[in-house]
Amino acid sequence: MERTLLRVLQGEHRASPPVWLMRQAGRYLPEYREARAKAGSFLELCYNPDLAAEVTLQPIRRYGFDAAIIFSDILVVPQALGRKLWFEEGEGPRLEPLAGPADIAALATDNVHDALEPVYQAIRQTRSALPAETALIGFCGAPFTLACYMIEGGGSRDFLKVKQWAYGHPDSFRRLSDALVQACIAHLDGQVRAGCDTVQIFDSWAGLLPEEQLFRWSVQPIQAIARGLKARHPDVPVIAFPRGVGPAALMYRRMPELAALSIDTGIGAHWAAQELQPHLAVQGNLDPVMLVTGGAALVHEARRILGKLAGGRHIFNLGHGILPQTPPDNVARLVEVVRNWSSR
Ligand code: CP3
Repeated sequence: MERTLLRVLQGEHRASPPVWLMRQAGRYLPEYREARAKAGSFLELCYNPDLAAEVTLQPIRRYGFDAAIIFSDILVVPQALGRKLWFEEGEGPRLEPLAGPADIAALATDNVHDALEPVYQAIRQTRSALPAETALIGFCGAPFTLACYMIEGGGSRDFLKVKQWAYGHPDSFRRLSDALVQACIAHLDGQVRAGCDTVQIFDSWAGLLPEEQLFRWSVQPIQAIARGLKARHPDVPVIAFPRGVGPAALMYRRMPELAALSIDTGIGAHWAAQELQPHLAVQGNLDPVMLVTGGAALVHEARRILGKLAGGRHIFNLGHGILPQTPPDNVARLVEVVRNWSSR
């Protein structure tokens, strides 16, 4: 059986595009909430290979997606580098903020493979349980997005500290970015060796940066990670998700290292078909709120996106992660709409 997602990443076209959803394992599924309660906390779930494999497989059993994404988090990399990480119930991630250059010099850059062995174990277990036709996706956060959380100490309204550090102290920010590039390469390499077919790099906060800074702190580090991974695994396709960048997505499209660009809901599907698809596969870009809404609005919008993008290399996905309020039946309906689509 072929892995359709991989075929599209390798440049082929499918009349009915492969489909998976960002955050497809998560709180909208009762069986996820059960596994999370069993683990004790979100982070304990991430580091428990049996349960992490189990929740990775749950959405595949329910919906038969074309790909599974290993259940983990982008912030396990800063944690492997020695930064304290915890999750406040209902509030999201917290990290002990980086205070200055000494904290950057102290990052435990050789520790990544050892610290993240439970992730690789979960990948091996997931792969052995997955149907042969289901691709397995590994991932990491891009350096800028990781730096956002490491410097702010969590989410933020305006990300003033991280942007001021990048704009005002570029040499020091470069050292942080370079260290994160190496850590991401090591982690993606570990995931591929454990059995991932492809990897996605999440730059969730790229859209905060004006274009020159975007090139320096998002485009270049993502390219460096993709090159580093390709040097070890030339045939593993790389997907990038620079969220919120708008037409600056053009900066990523000519990177020969990228097989696909994941686009958020703010990018027009017609524009993406014209400007991006001739260069790489496009993944996206249904508004996650449409999946909460369901009904005729969901079907109409999914078909609109398919009409614009499925004539080229397309991977159907959301523009951002699935929301906890999503009724599971709406996901089943969406998969049915995508599977019944046929473009020539
Ligand atoms: O997509 C998947 O199913 C794989 C697992 C995955 C998670 N996080 C699980 C998770 C992936 C790929 C991520 C990536 C991630 N994590 C990103 C990049 C993508 C994006 O959303 O922009 C970011 C920025 C993070 C950091 C993070 N982790 C935040 C901001 C939060 C809190 C928000 C929330 O939804 O609660 C998390 C927690 C998190 N990561 C959850 C899940 C399923 C929810 C934890 C829970 O069970 O309570």
